[in-house]
Amino acid sequence: MSKEYRVAVVGATGAVGRAMRSILAERDFPVKKFVALATAKSAGMQLEYRGQEVICQELAPNSFKGVDLALFSAGGGTSLKFAPIARDAGCVVIDNSSAWRMEGDVPLVVPEVNPDDVNWHKGIIANPNCSTIQMVVVMKPLHDEAKITRVVVSTYQAVSGTGAKAINELVQQTGQVLAGEAPQPSVYPHQIAFNCLPHIDAFLDDGYTKEEQKMVNETKKIMGDDSIAVTATCVRVPVQNGHSEAVNLQFARPLSVERARELLAAAPGVRVVDDPENKIYPMPIEASGRDDTFVGRIRRDSTADNALNMWIVADNLRKGAALNAVQIAELLVERALVRVPR
Ligand SMILES: NC(=O)c1ccc[n+]([C@@H]2O[C@H](COP(=O)([O-])OP(=O)(O)OC[C@H]3O[C@@H](n4cnc5c(N)ncnc54)[C@H](OP(=O)(O)O)[C@@H]3O)[C@@H](O)[C@H]2O)c1
Repeated sequence: MSKEYRVAVVGATGAVGRAMRSILAERDFPVKKFVALATAKSAGMQLEYRGQEVICQELAPNSFKGVDLALFSAGGGTSLKFAPIARDAGCVVIDNSSAWRMEGDVPLVVPEVNPDDVNWHKGIIANPNCSTIQMVVVMKPLHDEAKITRVVVSTYQAVSGTGAKAINELVQQTGQVLAGEAPQPSVYPHQIAFNCLPHIDAFLDDGYTKEEQKMVNETKKIMGDDSIAVTATCVRVPVQNGHSEAVNLQFARPLSVERARELLAAAPGVRVVDDPENKIYPMPIEASGRDDTFVGRIRRDSTADNALNMWIVADNLRKGAALNAVQIAELLVERALVRVPR
């Protein structure tokens, strides 16, 4: 019989945690025991895993005893404190927060791009930022062919990327505005309904936001190429789920639109949706709930040598978070790496 694992989800009640539960079940991940962890507020809550009731427990230092694999999605502070505790208890951690992503001894993995980086894990593996994941999945086959030298990206990020409370805020504010009431922002600094906020995560001294900086640093680490120049503008838009990105890629060598389409059509995890004449292009309402990263509007940038523009859309809760984490877990199982090296 193939091996089964005791798996914990930290943040099991959250937007990403819920997606993790359903994706583990959908993909038939070999789970012997499922452990749901969250705050004291959720302790005792009945959650569902594969039709079975699971009682949510409060995360505590002894939560990882006998657990083989933990998927963390409970914020950076929780990961900073509890990922080392889990690892020291012999549990391999796949962390969704930004806490460990840029540490030298922590692989930052997108299975379609740098699967072999799981081989050198030391107990903690980081899942990249949602906007970065969908971009590098598309960049990889193009980079292998024509070497990307520069990326200019603008994101249009859904509120689900902020978590369950932000989804409620968009829905509530939309109702309030339509009813002629003035919404009171709570999760975001300004009204998000019928608005766009060029502000995701904290501002840094150089005028960029941390989200923009994450896209720059994480892209280089995942692609294993520090020479790729990346500049980003990250924007929160009133979309419930599914991040979109307008991406301009510049290459060292010529790459035609036709060849780019061909490479992308053959790339794992990518779906080309590019028939503008028939009004067919990727959209978040269609990408939501799906596993692929969708790319369309592929066209030549006539203002630069060897450059293409494109539009990339993916479900940020799935490929941008939970699905990518489960795919990393699958890689660990395939390669017999569900163990903390001593
Ligand atoms: N949403 C995305 O698209 C996305 C993408 C990539 C990465 N991430 C990352 O994933 C993490 C969670 O995001 P989310 O969108 O799922 O947020 P969320 O909907 O707000 O859920 C947060 C989850 O974390 C739990 N939690 C919070 N503080 C905790 C603590 N001190 N101890 C134990 N559990 C704690 C919450 O439990 P309670 O319900 O008990 O409060 C809840 O289950 C964040 O680190 C985020 O940056 C999110």
